[in-house]
Amino acid sequence: MDFSFSDEQLMLQDVARRIAKEKIATSAEHFDATGEYPLENIQLLGENGLMAIEVPEQYGGSGMDPISSVLAIIEVSAADAAHATIMSVNNSLFCNAVLAYGSEAQKQTYVRAIAEGSEIGAFALTESQSGSDATAMRCRAVKQDDGSYVINGQKSWITSGPVARYVVLFAMTDPTKGSRGITAFMIDANRPGYGRGKTEPKLGVRASATCEIEFQDYVARAEDVIGKEGEGFKIAMSLLDSGRIGIASQAVGIARAAYEASVAYVKERKSFGAPIGTFQMIQAKVADMKCKLDAAMLLTLRAAWLKSQGRRFSTEAAVAKLTASEAAMWIAHQAVQIHGGMGYSKEMPLERYFRDAKITEIYEGTSEIQRMVIARNETGLR
Ligand code: CAA
Ligand code: FAD
Repeated sequence: MDFSFSDEQLMLQDVARRIAKEKIATSAEHFDATGEYPLENIQLLGENGLMAIEVPEQYGGSGMDPISSVLAIIEVSAADAAHATIMSVNNSLFCNAVLAYGSEAQKQTYVRAIAEGSEIGAFALTESQSGSDATAMRCRAVKQDDGSYVINGQKSWITSGPVARYVVLFAMTDPTKGSRGITAFMIDANRPGYGRGKTEPKLGVRASATCEIEFQDYVARAEDVIGKEGEGFKIAMSLLDSGRIGIASQAVGIARAAYEASVAYVKERKSFGAPIGTFQMIQAKVADMKCKLDAAMLLTLRAAWLKSQGRRFSTEAAVAKLTASEAAMWIAHQAVQIHGGMGYSKEMPLERYFRDAKITEIYEGTSEIQRMVIARNETGLR
């Protein structure tokens, strides 16, 4: 067992930490308050190879491993979770879709544009009536005689939807086949038949723009299919295995920021003539926060390590996402409590950590769905 990181992993972590401290932490409050999309910061992440971390260098990416992604997302998330949402979806759900299942032409066209930081990618699975029950989708792609598909329907809650040029879309090509009737497509938002709804106002991760997208007789060419017809649901599920490592990393970043702020505060804040960190009830909170943070971090790294070894990591990704998201929520909650009135104030970032932590228990599969995935995989029962 080796708990150390390679020089390359540490270098990427360092790049992410520098941008996070200098540009993201300093603007996080503004983007949280306004809900504006942080375009310049995202472009800066792209220019530094952080929007295509695992993309091979031949397609313009950083050519790094899944552990590097974890380290980089944690740094960005500790500064601002909304930036980490955009980064994680682009890296794990969009880039991985094309890398793992796309044709050579798709890799050259779509991944290269994303890796250069000039475009951003999105992933569209959820619909208004089908979130957890993803196979209940209604978005329909009807095959034409020339091999193209005409797509009609809507997708909800699409991260980066308001800005994304390219979207990995899942649509029903054969409703009689259930999950085996779903196909993945590469969508270009600049083509006719593509529409965007209003940006959703949200509790947290407010700078990560989210919206509904609509398809009205959008024509996808035969070469826009990702993988094979009917394989879309398995593709979505396997991408979400990777995506859940990204969200676990995001949760670890929020938890670390809340924990570090708390450790600093309990040393400086005095009550009854002593630093509050000398009180046993506060010490217990610090100790429990540390245990949950370390467990979340190690489980996230375990899932990433299994992925980097080419081994199965579906259960471990769900374990990491469930543990890390619940740790982030709990730690952020305790951090607000430790800060007293200041924890509730917008003058400090604790209330933002608290609001941002909540989403990690919801998207890329709720905590209930992670428990379902883990228990099904462990027992073989359904
Ligand atoms: N990898 C590959 N294939 C998989 C798989 C995986 N991890 N998990 C399931 N499959 C396959 C199954 O083997 C099965 O294949 P067969 O047809 O050959 O039998 C097929 O997929 C259907 O599987 P299930 O019968 O298990 O499907 P289900 O309808 O019971 O659903 C579920 C399972 C786990 C609940 C799934 O629907 C799910 O994960 N729901 C949550 C959806 C989700 O996470 N959405 C996230 C949207 S993206 C997002 O949220 C981004 C963001 O926030 C930033
Ligand atoms: P529902 O599925 O309606 O669930 C409601 C409640 O019922 C939850 O507590 C759930 O856990 C519970 N529940 C449902 N089924 C079961 C069950 N079988 N057993 C026990 N409990 C159950 N989607 C995308 O495709 N792309 C994106 O980029 C994207 N980004 C998002 C960004 C944000 C900010 C948000 C809020 C959502 C995003 N989503 C995205 C959608 C997200 O993945 C879904 O919201 C999530 O999967 C839950 O689906 P739902 O909202 O429909 O809730």
